[in-house]
Amino acid sequence: MPRTRDLTDPDWWRTAVVYQVYPRSFADGNGDGIGDLAGLIDRVPYLAGLGIDAVWLSPFYPSALADGGYDVDDYRDVDPRIGTLEQFDELVAALHAAGIRIVVDIVPNHSGSGHRWFQAALAAGPGSPERARYIFRDGLGEDGSQPPSDWVSHFGGSAWTRVPDPSSASGQGGQWYLHLFAPEQPDFDWSNPEVREEFHDILRFWADRGVDGFRVDVAHALAKDLSEPLASYPRIHRDVLKDDGTDVLFDRDEVHDIFRGWRDVMNEYDPPRSAVAEAWAAPARLPLYARPDELGQTFEFDLVVEPWDRARFRESIENALVRAREAGASSTWVLSNHDIVRHATRFGLPADVDLPAWLMTHGTDPVEDRRTGLARARAATMLLLALPGSAYLYQGEELGLPEVGDIPFDALEDPIWERNGHTEKGRDGARVPLPWTPDGPSFGFGSGGSHLPQPEWFADYAVAVEDADPSSTLNLYRAALGLRAQLATGDGFRFVDDRDGVIEVVRDGGWRSVTTFGTTAALPDGDVLLSSAPVGADRVLPADATAWIRDRA
Ligand code: NOJ
Ligand code: CA
Repeated sequence: MPRTRDLTDPDWWRTAVVYQVYPRSFADGNGDGIGDLAGLIDRVPYLAGLGIDAVWLSPFYPSALADGGYDVDDYRDVDPRIGTLEQFDELVAALHAAGIRIVVDIVPNHSGSGHRWFQAALAAGPGSPERARYIFRDGLGEDGSQPPSDWVSHFGGSAWTRVPDPSSASGQGGQWYLHLFAPEQPDFDWSNPEVREEFHDILRFWADRGVDGFRVDVAHALAKDLSEPLASYPRIHRDVLKDDGTDVLFDRDEVHDIFRGWRDVMNEYDPPRSAVAEAWAAPARLPLYARPDELGQTFEFDLVVEPWDRARFRESIENALVRAREAGASSTWVLSNHDIVRHATRFGLPADVDLPAWLMTHGTDPVEDRRTGLARARAATMLLLALPGSAYLYQGEELGLPEVGDIPFDALEDPIWERNGHTEKGRDGARVPLPWTPDGPSFGFGSGGSHLPQPEWFADYAVAVEDADPSSTLNLYRAALGLRAQLATGDGFRFVDDRDGVIEVVRDGGWRSVTTFGTTAALPDGDVLLSSAPVGADRVLPADATAWIRDRA
């Protein structure tokens, strides 16, 4: 299936290269230090020049920013600090005119605590229909002063917060509400049909505005076992997650009923709207979310945790391809996003490094090997872009941008920092505003400052600097995306497994990709179309590199 910019193609998402924009950190149009839609609209030519097929826009909705916008106060509007609905329409038009689709983030597990529904629930009191949209319970113990269960938040601490009782003059003795994330993110009760209807309407609201697809936040958490007494669940970890659809909090079978309802809504449109699930479930259960009568795709996150290791890459890739086939979906290659330490840094650190602990040293212990990290990051990207399926890129990775490890503690925005009693820095190091120019306030991000501090070395990674350097990572991404669009991208492919330390992928259409892990490799016959590191006259590919070769006819 060749890649297409035809905006009526219903299968576009199967092979798309999707670029994630974290709007507050992409480009600032009005100089207030916060990225916005005006800044993004200005950069549409940059995105078109990069050669991507779609933009995934992380939350831009009105929000108290307790969790970088994943605490949504109004699902049908734009945060005034980011822009207006009119500007959103302008953005959609500009992207579509450039042949680029737009995917928006839908956050259905929880709203922000400023959402009118949550405010109404607080005011209405126990037993009200307003409270039934969320998960309110009486506390345990004689005076209800203990949380209703031992459930914990992903960000640390109890997943329950107590609220004042509106019927008591003192406000004492109120109920507790559930929040699997920050207290400012109350969980919806998805067994309530009103919640289901509301989200169908929200999907329609954006689809009507021309949005092409949806990225579904924590898709695996919507259905919960709320039967009394609430079951014990004191720890959230892969090791305790049940893989048979009966886990108390995650990946329960009932969640699929919700997404079948979403598919019906998405199929009301022509072409049908696409979706991708962010689901942290047991590997065998990932394909369930991607079934054709559900969301269509699930993120494959294996490679965001695997070190630079030939066997681990080979196995992860194989498994992801099998799972995609099983679901009738296409695979989703991911190396970085706004929740993870950037891959140029991960690959420059020892394989067994404890990343949160490393961040607590401000990135000083151990010191990352930037050269190796960047070489591997470039090689990994070219390897994944040579595979069948779609790829999700995160803003800044096209610059080879490393993680900002040394954000001072007092500048952190991520709720992880406060909720864990200042023992974990969280995810801000991947969310620092992008450098566009080597100088100027905020390196061209805007005419003012930057909401997270940018390090001096950002100058070296600025778009303008890399634009002028033919060997830059930016120009490598441009070339790779351009070639990928031209070369046949059909599903037909095979691995050649005859060399240690090498992954060789042969694609239909007469081309192949060779990646070296810690070893050099003589390249097979054929023209070298592109390589992540220089190939000498001897046709030897250096270690930690990828080359794409056109087979001899
Ligand atoms: C996943 C998002 O990617 C992350 O940034 C957010 O904190 C949680 N979901 C909660 O919405
Ligand atoms: Ca701004």
